[in-house]
Amino acid sequence: MRLSKLLLSTAIGTAIAFSFSVGESAAKGKVNLYCSAQEDWCQLMAKGFEKASGIKVNMTRRSSGETFAKIKAEARNPKGDVWWGGTGDPHLQAAEEGLSTPYTSPNQAQLQGWAVAQSDSAGGKTIGIYSGALGYGYNEDILKKNNLPVPACWKDLLKPEYKGHVQMANPNSSGTAYTTLATMVQLFGEKEGFEYMKGLHKNINQYTKSGSAPIKAAARGENIIGIVFIHDAVKQAVKGFPIKSVAPCEGTGFEIGSMSLIKGGRNFDEAKKFYDWALTAETQSRALEVNAFQVPSNTGAKVSPKAPKLEEIKLIKYDFVKYGSSAERKRLLKKWDNEVKSLPK
Ligand code: G6P
Repeated sequence: MRLSKLLLSTAIGTAIAFSFSVGESAAKGKVNLYCSAQEDWCQLMAKGFEKASGIKVNMTRRSSGETFAKIKAEARNPKGDVWWGGTGDPHLQAAEEGLSTPYTSPNQAQLQGWAVAQSDSAGGKTIGIYSGALGYGYNEDILKKNNLPVPACWKDLLKPEYKGHVQMANPNSSGTAYTTLATMVQLFGEKEGFEYMKGLHKNINQYTKSGSAPIKAAARGENIIGIVFIHDAVKQAVKGFPIKSVAPCEGTGFEIGSMSLIKGGRNFDEAKKFYDWALTAETQSRALEVNAFQVPSNTGAKVSPKAPKLEEIKLIKYDFVKYGSSAERKRLLKKWDNEVKSLPK
């Protein structure tokens, strides 16, 4: 009798302890993070938030356009909670198409004007987390070995001697490449911008899925010139690869890397905690641990002296509202597929 009583009380004790521990972890919860920055930064954000909050993070890294398409496909049954990183245009498109939810973080007051402007233009459904200018990088060693001239302008990349040596991502999947397409249209006008993309197509060896892949390939010696955000080229140089970066002479576009809360996400409270945490100066300063040299949106975050200085780069007045609108993004991508991608090389 006594033994069964003991067993019973032990069983009850275990059950209580078990439900307590389950209750405790359930109270801390989880968050499903869709991440569109570089993989190592995405990992750092996931682990950093887990450590800071005790909330479990399930992180998936996909390029900006791909993530947009995934969120859209999942709209009836959302699987993600927060989308962090990636170029602003598809975040704006998600806002317009009702795929994200408005939120004003108490940390918004610490942000740069351009980060808040992005939010204002989308009814509070997205916010700027970093900024960076578009350009390209090249592998100096292989360029020399191939006796190729040093490029300095966008138009240089059309030279026939670069045939098969230039790489960029596909603008459907990659925000970097969409920024490239929208930059050419704004810089040269639509007609000439598309002529430029057609000329460039002749020299492209491959359209990659992810925006930073072309400069990683150049760092490995598998490609010579990669059209990327300048900070992605600097990252490879800082890692010790013979990569030089170029801010093109004609001027260039830029991104406002963004964050949005996914509409209907099941872990809304945890997602808001992540959102607030991601906007702090302390969190944004950690970008430097993974050589992410974007300009942070929090005015108190650390900036590396190695980071490209946007005030020294000739930037166009990129129209985020227009090029982040659903109709314009769809139209330009379709036109690129039909008139550029389908051309023989
Ligand atoms: C890299 C850059 C980011 C940019 C992102 C877009 O990770 O460092 O600044 O937002 O590319 O990625 P995607 O693959 O969509 O071009």
